[in-house]
Amino acid sequence: MSHLDRTRTAYDTVAGHYAVLLKDELRKSPWDRAVLAAFAEAITGPVLDAGCGPGRLTGHLAGLGLNVSGLDLSPEMIAVARQAHPPLEFTVGSVLDLDRPDNSLGGVVAWYSLIHMPPEDLPRAFAEFYRVLAPGGHLVTAFKIGDGKRHPLVGSYGPEIELDIWWHPLEFFAELAAAAGFAEVARLERAATETERQPQGYLTVRKPEAGGDLR
Ligand SMILES: C[S@@+](CC[C@H](N)C(=O)[O-])C[C@H]1O[C@@H](n2cnc3c(N)ncnc32)[C@H](O)[C@@H]1O
Repeated sequence: MSHLDRTRTAYDTVAGHYAVLLKDELRKSPWDRAVLAAFAEAITGPVLDAGCGPGRLTGHLAGLGLNVSGLDLSPEMIAVARQAHPPLEFTVGSVLDLDRPDNSLGGVVAWYSLIHMPPEDLPRAFAEFYRVLAPGGHLVTAFKIGDGKRHPLVGSYGPEIELDIWWHPLEFFAELAAAAGFAEVARLERAATETERQPQGYLTVRKPEAGGDLR
């Protein structure tokens, strides 16, 4: 089974449980909200929540006034997201092959959606984000800080699922973004809370303005 198929199957299996378990997480996470608030202030134009899961970030960003839609690999996650946020648009798809035109978005959010991707696929994801963002557009991503691959049989979302998870140093994502052509805007690493196993990382980058970035 390919990594994409394994990830899709896992999240299809736990979609409803995941939505319930993480329903209040943003409310309890001031650092997450702070990063998203700063991102929202920088945005002009439509935003894609790439790997949106049940749409908890999509709904939050819509509440901040953004014109946001969601995309996810898992049809079951998309079904849950549509039910939870009827006015918003959600589509099934992969961040490795976005069905969006070049230069069409003001922002992309990849919130814990790159953590299941083999490292060799990450340059392609960053290249896709760069392609669909308009010059001046922002990408924000959240991920788990650490080193190496975990292959857990996870039961914490209800049914047991097999899922690969990669932990990376923040610098690893910063270098990938730079290699794709992005300019760094801000980075944050915070300590694990009592319920987390590792520190969490947040990186915001910007696609430079056409013809040079004078800021
Ligand atoms: C840990 S969940 C995060 C969901 C949501 N962003 C959140 O913070 O609640 C990871 C999500 O990324 C999605 N995902 C993983 N790889 C993906 C890919 N290549 N393209 C689109 N979605 C992907 C999974 O289906 C899953 O819904």
